[in-house]
Amino acid sequence: MNNNNNSKLWESGRFSKGINPAVNDFNSSLPFDWRLYNEDIQVSIAHAKMLGACEIITIDESESIIAGLNGILLDIESGKLTFVSGASQDMAEDIHSFIEAELTARIGETGKKLHTARSRNDQVATDLRIYLRKEITAIRKLLETLMKTLSALSKKHEKTIMPGYTHLQRAQPVTFSKHLMAYYEMFWRDYFRLSDAAERMAECPLGCGALAGTTYEIDRKMSAEELGFYRLCKNTLDGVSDRDFAIEITSGLSLVMMHLSRFCEEIILWCSWEFRFIELDDEYSTGSSIMPQKKNPDIAELIRGKSSRVFADLQTLFVMMKGLPLAYNKDMQEDKEAIFDAVDTTKTCLEMFIPMLETLKVNSDKMRTAATKGFINATDCADYLVKKGMAFRDAYKVVGEIVGYCIQKDLDLENLPLEEYQKRSNLFSDDIYEAICLDNCVANRNKRYTKGEIKNET
Ligand code: ARG
Repeated sequence: MNNNNNSKLWESGRFSKGINPAVNDFNSSLPFDWRLYNEDIQVSIAHAKMLGACEIITIDESESIIAGLNGILLDIESGKLTFVSGASQDMAEDIHSFIEAELTARIGETGKKLHTARSRNDQVATDLRIYLRKEITAIRKLLETLMKTLSALSKKHEKTIMPGYTHLQRAQPVTFSKHLMAYYEMFWRDYFRLSDAAERMAECPLGCGALAGTTYEIDRKMSAEELGFYRLCKNTLDGVSDRDFAIEITSGLSLVMMHLSRFCEEIILWCSWEFRFIELDDEYSTGSSIMPQKKNPDIAELIRGKSSRVFADLQTLFVMMKGLPLAYNKDMQEDKEAIFDAVDTTKTCLEMFIPMLETLKVNSDKMRTAATKGFINATDCADYLVKKGMAFRDAYKVVGEIVGYCIQKDLDLENLPLEEYQKRSNLFSDDIYEAICLDNCVANRNKRYTKGEIKNET
């Protein structure tokens, strides 16, 4: 069953001929905004209920519209009603006109009353907010799962020592647990950033009309409550032309993707033969068509690559909006593909990333071996001298010399003889080896690590 109603919503005495088919194709958003059918029908049902309750249409008319809309929803979901018809001039302008035309085809004259006291401008703004709030709930659930996975993995590795890096040079030893929990913090911020944005966008634009509101005695609160909004958009021009919420959400999603991308970059490095800190499960790796030895981290690379799409989606929305005068402009139809892409990409990337992380194998020994090289305990050696009374700058110089000597002699701080230490400072005694032992370096720092809130905050 196709909706082949080629009459346009605006068809009236105003036009003397129909639209050029190529223009119709160019103008139509149905090929992508069909995805809003569920939200659009929900919004129309809430609107029809409100029109009936406010006696703008009769209760019978309201019920007949609602039954018609429910029938359309059923037929779309079962695949009986499809969106795109064969000939392009037959294609509806968007999902809103498609459903309205279908309704009128099904229930007759009463269908024409649905659009009383509303415009597609407040309709699309309402649909989009509902769609995004639903998707954000799903993405926040995925972030919760990711945080749970991270804290479980981190618990297992509280004693796993690895090199901490700055400038990708071995810097100071850390636990793998602490490294993982750094990502936990990022995703925690993402989680709350998205809920914060979702709360801010819970304002209903329905009733703002085309731009200036409506002359009918509508009950905006009633339809807003029915649709799960917390507040009403206060200014009708802003209500129809605001897309800040889409930009805020896409910006929140960009941060999620940036964090995933950084994590993936580390995963890619860690499973290289140079590091071998981890090994990805076979199910989350790929092979090479020519080099039989290869096990490639394609999934992590793809997530890193796909982050660029979401950043570009954010850019699209900003550039699309920046020059628009109030209120609605058709440019805004271009928001859909960017929003859908940002949501889809972030969701799939999280869905791939979580099990990839859950199933990866950690080579704790390799991490520890890497941490014993590269003079990762040099700061602790300098701190040792400071605790014995030397100024930090002087201690830094003494240890710098010792490191230089070790490099020449191919030694590590752990196996440099005590007399070599003592040649450079008489503050050294044999407890230096305890002070620079990896486990102590990590434990001493973790002791000082403060968790939680600062008390006495003013
Ligand atoms: N398809 C349009 C969009 O997505 C719906 C609103 C159209 N409004 C209009 N006055 N042409 O933005």
